[in-house]
Amino acid sequence: MAELLTISLEELVYSLSTLMDHTIAPLRDHHRRTTIAAYHIAFYLDLTWQQRNDLIFASAIHDIGAFSIKEQKALLDLRFEDQHINQHARAAYLLFKEFSQFEHVAIILRYHHAYLNATTNAQRAKIPYESLILQVADQVAVLSMDAHNILDRSAKIIEEINKQSGVMFAPEIVEAFNKAAEKEKFWLDINNLSLSALFAERLKLDNLHFKSDELMGLVNMFRRIIDFRSEVTSTHTAGVSVVAAELARIHGSEEETIRKITMAGFLHDIGKLIVPSEILEKPGKLTRAEFNIIRTHTYFTYEFLNTLSIFSDIRDWASQHHERLNGRGYPFHENDRSLSFESRAIAVADVFTALTEDRPYRKGVTGKEAMVVLDVDVQKQELDPNLVLLLGEHQDEINQARIKAQDRSRKEYQAFMKEMNKEGF
Ligand SMILES: [Fe+2]
Ligand SMILES: [Fe+2]
Ligand SMILES: [Fe+2]
Repeated sequence: MAELLTISLEELVYSLSTLMDHTIAPLRDHHRRTTIAAYHIAFYLDLTWQQRNDLIFASAIHDIGAFSIKEQKALLDLRFEDQHINQHARAAYLLFKEFSQFEHVAIILRYHHAYLNATTNAQRAKIPYESLILQVADQVAVLSMDAHNILDRSAKIIEEINKQSGVMFAPEIVEAFNKAAEKEKFWLDINNLSLSALFAERLKLDNLHFKSDELMGLVNMFRRIIDFRSEVTSTHTAGVSVVAAELARIHGSEEETIRKITMAGFLHDIGKLIVPSEILEKPGKLTRAEFNIIRTHTYFTYEFLNTLSIFSDIRDWASQHHERLNGRGYPFHENDRSLSFESRAIAVADVFTALTEDRPYRKGVTGKEAMVVLDVDVQKQELDPNLVLLLGEHQDEINQARIKAQDRSRKEYQAFMKEMNKEGF
């Protein structure tokens, strides 16, 4: 019988939400603000325990499908009638519904811009109550952003939200908002309260329980969240993961280690959630500033995994893939004395995959050509010589496995994009 695992939902919500809120794109801090607003509004509504859990979870990640600066800016511009505002909601839905326990959260995300005046009666019947709360909380978060002193602006925001009562928003939710908004505490919390403080002091969320063999499903959901932000990255993680796992298998690692390396491979670039897709997609040379943004991603991979106790043993393997044996990698400047076999394997797999994979603007090099580059990296004392040797010896077989994994991922991405480009709710 499969072992039962527990994940702290508070840790998951905190780590994912905080990661997204570190973005350099316009929605910085937006998820925290929305979650705090939703928490306060929900206090005046009669929600079940489960509904409250799901509302907080959904609020904390609701714009995870807005990949670009352009899209994020539009969300702050309040152009509600735009159809494209639904695209990011649909993306979030498609990403989260992949993990069976998150199906209801996925539906909340799908309808988080399905306002009263933008939907038909038939559509409205499908909208979860939590989405209606999230809609109001989201707008409060947007309207209160960048307020020097939020109390200077609260009256204006109350007026704006009430204007939309029965128009965009359900009157019942606006009433709850009105009660919450009477207190300065509501506004000051929106500007100041961290999610960790919220969970530590006021709000307990239920843990998630699932069978140990479902863990890969959860990690696989993360893989899609990371890669599907752009066509450029759409198959990268799948490639890195399989190359690293194959290296470990040939090396003779145990089954359990190989499974964990696969997961570390799936998660290695999760820090890229802070990078808007415009930078991921730039075909030419990056500016120094753009490269510096990319260079932060492994730090955020580390921070994300560090918060989640269930992933503590793969944290280092996943976040050290830009470290180098000579100590000149980033961000920790680890070296040949501190880097584990697993971390080295993912670093080698990352370079090999980056070279051989096709991008929309260029074809990948052959396995043979990639090995020439990897040998130079060994000369420079960057990559592990034994692992590069191993890869060279089994290059055909490993490269075939990579191609297969990336082809599969490409098909998944195409299906995802097809769904995403549908019109309406
Ligand atoms: Fe949104
Ligand atoms: Fe939002
Ligand atoms: Fe990376």
